[in-house]
This record gives sequence, C-alpha cells and structure tokens, in this order.
Amino acid sequence: MSQHKSYIVGNWKMNGYQADISKLQAIADGSGSDAGVEVAICPPATLIAAFAQRAGGVRIGAQDCHAKSSGAHTGCLSAAMLKEAGATFSIVGHSERRADQGEGDADVAAKAQALHEAGLGAIVCVGETLEQRDSGDAIAMVTAQLAASLPGAASADWLSVAYEPVWAIGTGRVPRSEDIAAMHAALRATLTDRLGAAGAGVRILYGGSVNPGNAAEILAIPDVGGALVGGASLKSETFLPIIQAAP
Ligand code: G3P
Repeated sequence: MSQHKSYIVGNWKMNGYQADISKLQAIADGSGSDAGVEVAICPPATLIAAFAQRAGGVRIGAQDCHAKSSGAHTGCLSAAMLKEAGATFSIVGHSERRADQGEGDADVAAKAQALHEAGLGAIVCVGETLEQRDSGDAIAMVTAQLAASLPGAASADWLSVAYEPVWAIGTGRVPRSEDIAAMHAALRATLTDRLGAAGAGVRILYGGSVNPGNAAEILAIPDVGGALVGGASLKSETFLPIIQAAP
C-alpha cells in the first residue's frame, strides 16, 4: 500500500474563468495548513498559467495532452506546452474523453508516455460503464484497461491511477465500499505485476460523486490513496471539507 500522503485532486472540467482565481486562493488558503494531504487542481487549459502563479501549495495540473510533442494538430496542446504554462502533471484517459473524443487505451498510453518524456506526472483514469458493472465484468475490464493504458515508461514515482466508474460520475451514485476496495486491490495487483514491488507505491484515487458527506468513508477504504473530485471541487465550501476528510 502507498506510503504517500493522501492526494486530493479537483478536476474542473470545462468550468472556470479568470474571475474564479479567488476560488483557487480560498482552496490554497484553506488547505495550506494540512501537512498530511497533497492538493491539486486541474483547471481548463486557459487558466493553468494564471492558477500556477497563485497556487501556493496547491499543485496545478492539466486535464489532457496530445501524444505528439509538436506539429500539425490544430487545437491541441503538447505536454511541454502545459509544462511551460505551469502544470506539473496531467490527467489522461478520463472517461469523458474516452467517450466524447473516442480515445482508446493505446491513445491514453501514448499521451501518458508524452507526459513522462516532458517531465510531467500522470493520473491515468480507468473505470467501467454501468453495463459492464451489471454484467459482472467490471474488475476484469478495468484491470485490462489499466494494463493497456500504461506506457512503456511507466514508473511508480511518476504515476497515479484514478478509478472512476462511469456511472458514478456526476450522478450522486457511488459504489459500495467493498466494491471500491475490491477494485483498488485488483488495480494494485495490476500495478505490481507491471512495476514489481514499486507498484505498491502508486497512489490509486477514487473518483465519482465524491462530496463532503461521503468523503471520509471513501477515503478510509483500504488502498484508496485519495480522490479525483469533479463538481465538488469547484467551490472551496465543498472542496475543503473533502480535503479535511482525508486520513
Ligand atoms: O474527474 C472527476 C470526475 O469525473 C468525477 O466527477 O462530479 O462526479 O465528482 P464528479
């Protein structure tokens, strides 16, 4: 199991403007005294530079990157561009990108490889649909998804994993604690298969409808190393209690 601090990451998705820098500052001010927790925000790319200048102890990350380092890819951003803007890591393979942009595991692995080459950390996201959960295939499907989404360069000190059941994102529904525990144990086994003993040090976050009311229970589940939080990360009033709930 990971020896790291708890890692609480806010994914702002396609939300946020310059006027919201005050929200970042409230989060930075409110979380600054908690030495046991590492806090990060992934704003839209338009805000990375401004947020990075005012982040205090909060890490700033991106939500996606392109797999290539440069070239004819209109509208895309390379890992090095995100790094120059002030990001220290990026989410890759979020289920919304897998669904909306048709990204597959090989695309996710290539993006993660690009992050590694640029010197940025990665949070690789995996998770099953409701149909896959109901069919009883969730663990086999999600562990295979993780194995195929890890790049050749994967190393334990660089990588975090986020388990986000698609059916739990933005729905107010969360899996039973025992189902989260079983999935995280299976993902841990996949990581140690791939990385050896060092795989024990990779943080595995849970994401999907984490809120102030359920955070303490979720974060106390064995092998849950933190949370990837969407809607509740947009305001300090809901994000700070989640940070404070971290063990
Ligand atoms: O990446 C975080 C996310 O997908 C969870 O969103 O709004 O259910 O916390 P939400």
